[in-house]
Amino acid sequence: MADWHTTVTPPALARLLATARLPDPATARRPAYRTLAGQIRLLVTDGRLPVGARLPAERELASALELSRTTVATAYETLRGDGYLLSRRGAGSWTALPEGASPPGDALHPVPPDEQGRILDLGVAALPAPQPWLGRAAARAVELLPHYAAGHGHYPTGVPVLREAVARRYTERGLPTTPDQILVTTGAMGGLHLVQRVLVGRGDRVAVEAPSYAHTLQALRLTGARLVPVPYTSGGGRARWDLEEWQRVLRGAAPKVSYVIPDFHNPTGALIDKEQRRRLLAAARAAGSIVLVDETTAELGWGVPESTPLPRPMAALDRSAQVVTVGSAGKLLWGGLRIGWVRAAPALVRRLATERVYSDVGTPVLDQLIAAELLGEPLPEVRAHQLDRLRATAHAFAAALSERLPEWSFPPPPGGLALWVNTAGLSGAALAQAGEHAGIRIAAGNRFGSDGAFEHHIRIPLTVPAPAVPAAVERLAAVADRAAAGGRLVPADEGQALAV
Ligand SMILES: Cc1ncc(COP(=O)(O)O)c(C=O)c1O
Repeated sequence: MADWHTTVTPPALARLLATARLPDPATARRPAYRTLAGQIRLLVTDGRLPVGARLPAERELASALELSRTTVATAYETLRGDGYLLSRRGAGSWTALPEGASPPGDALHPVPPDEQGRILDLGVAALPAPQPWLGRAAARAVELLPHYAAGHGHYPTGVPVLREAVARRYTERGLPTTPDQILVTTGAMGGLHLVQRVLVGRGDRVAVEAPSYAHTLQALRLTGARLVPVPYTSGGGRARWDLEEWQRVLRGAAPKVSYVIPDFHNPTGALIDKEQRRRLLAAARAAGSIVLVDETTAELGWGVPESTPLPRPMAALDRSAQVVTVGSAGKLLWGGLRIGWVRAAPALVRRLATERVYSDVGTPVLDQLIAAELLGEPLPEVRAHQLDRLRATAHAFAAALSERLPEWSFPPPPGGLALWVNTAGLSGAALAQAGEHAGIRIAAGNRFGSDGAFEHHIRIPLTVPAPAVPAAVERLAAVADRAAAGGRLVPADEGQALAV
């Protein structure tokens, strides 16, 4: 065992615990220490708490959770007995897995290639590469590479041709942009992480949509930000921001940053109209909150008629340089390129570039050249190809779900990567666990909430090819039957079993 461990602070663990609701039968009439031990074990087994993470001392955790020290001590003792915690006098306690346990399954981690035949992956929301365009762009990039190979190959702000291509695309979408406003990053995730590191301090409040993109929520939690969730409302059958609530949160909590996904939101697919964008920006300006706009899914409007103009990027409405935008080639082009970007004022771009020199230095040149190629002439064809695929899969899911699982519901989205499905009272966590046993990876709704909300939701990504959708829904229905019946039993502490 290494001597160094990630340290989880008491508030960070308290926030994670709030997202780890156990199925009801597991918590009813159980002593508090068993619930606490069960929650920590759940966080470890589904990968939200890394193996080897140092947990807070008993006294500190007891005070953060307002529990007695005996409760925390007994929970730790239970976890130690089950092999989920190791302790050494003077060194603390850190999470572990019992001998012989399978590694943590995380619905949002990709199924490894050698298991893809066995496991149906309804976790990761990213499409295969568009072919033959990717192959052609890669060949062209290899031709261009010798020109770059003559130098050191480090481009902290990005290779100029890609910065230009991204700036041009913003300009085409109605937001005039120059290359010095663009910083190329290693995926949108790299951009979000960098912005977070520079702009968000430990303990700062960050307002987030509820639901929101699970990985950002988790990254924010782990850096010690305090999340303030702001719900969606569904007026006229479509999801919209609850602006009154946004105004209340911005006035009352004064969040340092407000993180939003206004275009084909992940996970709901919602598209926010111009008026809502304008009003949220005005409220954020009055509160001095930086608006971090995640446009990773912005080009995925497969349900919007060609003739309907899309709202311009949110930064086009920004009069006080208060918007920082993050984008990605990962959904429209290919996730395997790991290309993303930040669009911001040139001074902030320079500051972020200085900061990233201490992490990944830059993004691989070859991948940047491929992305620049794809963002050029082939883009309209590539985009049409990806949107056709998403649309066909969405329609196939809508038909198969209404036939096999008619009590489940979802607002038909105008675009995006997923369906956000209400499972009519069935626990998403229970479905995910039953799915693990049945070889189907399911993303439980509570991963997309900041406080354990959305227990009765799952996210179904539009990644299965349309012809394979009926069989996928058939398997989903079998898992739902099993979960509804109390289904498979997973081992729990002290010989008890949790129904999942
Ligand atoms: C809203 C949102 N932001 C960021 C990301 C991460 O994108 P990337 O693969 O470019 O890191 C995703 C991927 O699903 C996403 O949906």
